[in-house]
Amino acid sequence: MFFDRPETGEIAILVHLTIDSESERDDPVEFEELALSAGVMPVDLITGSRRQPAPNYFVGSGKLEEIQAAVRAHKAELVLFNHALSPSQERNLEKQLQCRVLDRTGLILDIFAQRARSHEGKLQVELAQLQHLSTRLKRGWTHLDRQKGGIGLRGAGEKQLELDQRLIGQRMKAIHKSLGKVRAQREQGRRSRRRADVPTVSLVGYTNAGKSTLFNTLTQAGTYAADQLFATLDSTLRRIDLPNFGNAIVADTVGFISHLPHQLVEAFRATLEETAEANLLLHVVDAANEDHQHLMDEVNSVLLEIEADSVPQLQVFNKIDLIKGFEPRLDRDGEGRPKRVWVSAKTGAGIELLIAAVSELLAGSLVCETVRLEPHQARLRSQLYEKEFIEQEMVDEHGAYVLTLRLPKSEFSRLQQQGVTVVTNSEPASTSPSEWPESRSETAPAAAGSVG
Ligand code: GTP
Repeated sequence: MFFDRPETGEIAILVHLTIDSESERDDPVEFEELALSAGVMPVDLITGSRRQPAPNYFVGSGKLEEIQAAVRAHKAELVLFNHALSPSQERNLEKQLQCRVLDRTGLILDIFAQRARSHEGKLQVELAQLQHLSTRLKRGWTHLDRQKGGIGLRGAGEKQLELDQRLIGQRMKAIHKSLGKVRAQREQGRRSRRRADVPTVSLVGYTNAGKSTLFNTLTQAGTYAADQLFATLDSTLRRIDLPNFGNAIVADTVGFISHLPHQLVEAFRATLEETAEANLLLHVVDAANEDHQHLMDEVNSVLLEIEADSVPQLQVFNKIDLIKGFEPRLDRDGEGRPKRVWVSAKTGAGIELLIAAVSELLAGSLVCETVRLEPHQARLRSQLYEKEFIEQEMVDEHGAYVLTLRLPKSEFSRLQQQGVTVVTNSEPASTSPSEWPESRSETAPAAAGSVG
């Protein structure tokens, strides 16, 4: 499993246990991929099983000896655990093994630190690193050589390792402030896109599915793609011109990963919100990966967590060039709507089918509806203004608001779930943004939160 690896990076021992009390566990192959992605050189994988983690060292004494022997035999500089370790477990293990120990969260943070591209992404990683670090400051690093840097010590957070808790607190405060500014700017950008009637198409998918490559092929925009996990950390936006439709924004997003530690989902929530607000998701799948159904389920569960599960999805089965004799194809669902396109982002095969399917779905994804809101639903009305869904407004003789809305179908379904009274039920909005009504209200009252 660990042969044919480049002779670079820190020599690492990987540890993966099956724990009975944990219902699911990431498989060791993915763990190895993550380690390679971080740039370490895994030389041994130690596996085992336990009913539950041991309090002091996570592993039992026999397994600890086995790890120790492997560290000595390979002169390893690092031991990576495919689990979350408590700060004291990490400290005890380092003391016992006399080398650095990193848990799964630390590993993923390190990868994120290497891949962050936008200012916001870098700030988010630094914040998450500092949070992770602040719980581990007491461990006493004296027995380890930290001057060399290395995995888990890279990225913007690395400078902070020498600082005490107080300085870390100050830095975290400053980052929060900068993030607030960056987010306000991004929200501004989103609003102007909505005002300009430009829908957003977000690429989502398990890490390494080929999102960045597809993004490049779709937009001809030379963004960075690499044969490593997480080549993309931040949303990257490009405008494309779709035949029979007009302009749309394509957003490349961070690669999803199973069992992303919850604190990281939190850290990247703002970036992922972009996904939840998209008009259409292109769920990119590595069709050549035998495990693709499982990876799709993992992606869908992250989408559920970030409340993007109601956004319409088009599945893009990528890498068909790796499947012998496979031709590009478009599959439709029972109602005739595009459901799945088979393409190769690398060779460009099937891209025209994909573009046509995206145009078709975007054209049908907006609806015009008239609803009635009672006077006590004023907050919901503000939210609809905030999202710029309101085309026209009247007040009837009972003081209720009669609103003509133009909005994505998914948002309309949410309104219906909230028990909003629908006055009319009209056809899809129109086929082209240029035909969309111009009569939008410019006087949007301020409101917080989102519909639903
Ligand atoms: P993350 O940013 O890590 O989430 O990855 P990603 O989903 O953006 O994947 P990326 O585009 O970086 O592609 C991952 C690897 O798959 C790269 O080595 C690509 O060259 C390769 N790849 C992407 N699309 C295709 C394809 O259609 N065919 C083949 N053979 N390889 C592809």
